[in-house]
Amino acid sequence: MIKLAPSILSADFAELGSAVGMVESASDYIHVDVMDGHFVPNITIGCPVVKSLSAVTSLPLDCHLMISDPAAYVADFAAAGATSCTVHIEAAPDPTLVLSSLEHFGLGRGLALNPDTPFKEVEPYLDQIDLLLVMTVRPGFGGQAFRSDVLSKIERARDMIDSLGLDVEIEVDGGVAHDTVRSVVEAGGTVLVAGSAIFGKDDPAAAANELRNIALGNEN
Ligand code: DX5
Ligand code: ZN
Repeated sequence: MIKLAPSILSADFAELGSAVGMVESASDYIHVDVMDGHFVPNITIGCPVVKSLSAVTSLPLDCHLMISDPAAYVADFAAAGATSCTVHIEAAPDPTLVLSSLEHFGLGRGLALNPDTPFKEVEPYLDQIDLLLVMTVRPGFGGQAFRSDVLSKIERARDMIDSLGLDVEIEVDGGVAHDTVRSVVEAGGTVLVAGSAIFGKDDPAAAANELRNIALGNEN
């Protein structure tokens, strides 16, 4: 089962409601990239925007927290209408604490790792999460080139999750586009984040549908 999560990072921030509306029927989640200018160099959006989006879409809001001290914000994201929050292992000194807080607030529990962070860092927490987000670019900016050297980490994660019999999605984020998405799916990715490959196109809904078709192997 493949899920598509367009990242609004590449949408027009003055028109977020209509951007989400454009891709709604072609999407499974809306991916919201939250950046704090500290964990990553860029600053984007936070809870007030999540709250506004939750009022205009029925799609789950998949919030990717590229922020320091994520545990301090879990309650706020829950109140704003987030469906799930993904925190970075590099920003969570006590992953179990923040993951149990996500569960306490009824949020889906995601754990992310950067391209250069080894898989073994997240391995102890696989039974505490619903989603593992594997970054295939350096976090902080859209439109970067896909790091194909990370595919082996996705394969390893898929093998481990399956061999443990866990129900954990593998979300892949960064440079996922029409020419890379098939390799992501073949490696075991199930949730596909795409920013510029969808919102960077003239017709985002058509781009999303085409991306899904390629992901499913329905196009040559
Ligand atoms: C990068 C973000 C991504 C970003 C992906 O830090 O986490 O979600 O939007 O953008 P593209 O798909 O353009 O690489
Ligand atoms: Zn993201």
